Amino acid sequence: MKQAVPITTRFAKIIGTGSGIPLHALSNQMLVEDLAARGIETSDEWIVTRTGIRNRYIASEGETSASLGLQASQQALEMAGIDAQELDLIVVATSTPDHVFPATACLIQGKLGNKRAMAFDLAAACTGFVYALSVANSMVVSGQAQRALVVGADIISRITDWNDRSTCALFGDGAGAVVLEASETPGILSTAMHADGAQMDILHTTGQMCHGKIVGHPYLKMDGQAVFKTAVTVLDQVAREALEMAHLDVDAIDWLIPHQANLRILQATARKLGLPEEKVIVAVDQFGNTSAASIPLALDQALRAGRIHAGQKVMLQGVGGGMTWGAALVQF
Ligand code: ACO
Repeated sequence: MKQAVPITTRFAKIIGTGSGIPLHALSNQMLVEDLAARGIETSDEWIVTRTGIRNRYIASEGETSASLGLQASQQALEMAGIDAQELDLIVVATSTPDHVFPATACLIQGKLGNKRAMAFDLAAACTGFVYALSVANSMVVSGQAQRALVVGADIISRITDWNDRSTCALFGDGAGAVVLEASETPGILSTAMHADGAQMDILHTTGQMCHGKIVGHPYLKMDGQAVFKTAVTVLDQVAREALEMAHLDVDAIDWLIPHQANLRILQATARKLGLPEEKVIVAVDQFGNTSAASIPLALDQALRAGRIHAGQKVMLQGVGGGMTWGAALVQF
């Protein structure tokens, strides 16, 4: 699906961002010791060299996608300076919702005290936030919503096999949120989204609920090398597609925020696009791969650190299970 530069002067502008970070940090050293106690060998050096990850946060028993999403949403609303009552739309991207239903978006809406917005979840794995941002952008640009809250939240630790060293070192839990508002000035400039269900085998979690029990495999399974190759190829393609729709060149990108899966994927994507590494926002070292939360978390950290300035253009890029991928070019 493609969405070109709006022909009207109505844009959706990001006016607030926030993060929801679990209380419990798990450094590589802590993970190495934990795995060693169960006879599984790994090392800080292996994890840092292959992935760039040094730390991640793991949700405690009471923390869920909704509770972390709520924390991120409250921060985003505060930065935006608007009341939750003013929201017309709440979209939550998650693969680990609190319940089958109601949607995690409804849980967050209830806690925020908003009683009128439409609220729904969207599942596109690690690309979920870009998909959700694009859907919300369409609704704001078309006039269906004036203000929207877009959240990416995942608790991947609950679908992680902690005895599988090839996946358990890669992921973390968290949430990120943005508030969009209709504006006459840009705004989200373009979005592009794709999926290829024929590639589902390289990254999936196939378990499902049946009469109260999980049937099938409840843990995330991944062909790391196939995911790496696909990710670098599609992230390059989809970024160029979003640039073309906005009639801009690669040079127009001030900051690149790829899905924070792995530092080597981020570096390879920047190289392929011809962007210097200094333009890449990196948060994977602190948070690991937080799935749908990774892009808004990285964006929020960069904004709060004062790195992104008004008028700058940021390319957001997602890739994940499905396979799904997408990009959004956003002007601040
Ligand atoms: N510690 C120590 N050794 C390990 C670990 C670990 N945590 N995990 C795997 N190994 C071993 C393997 O057993 C293997 O050993 P062997 O050679 O004796 O068989 C060796 O390391 C090499 O394994 P590979 O899987 O070939 O390692 P690779 O260099 O491909 O790195 C990685 C693995 C980091 C997963 C890489 O493939 C990758 O970055 N893939 C991208 C996938 C990704 O980032 N996924 C995130 C989720 S997907 C998404 O968000 C889109």
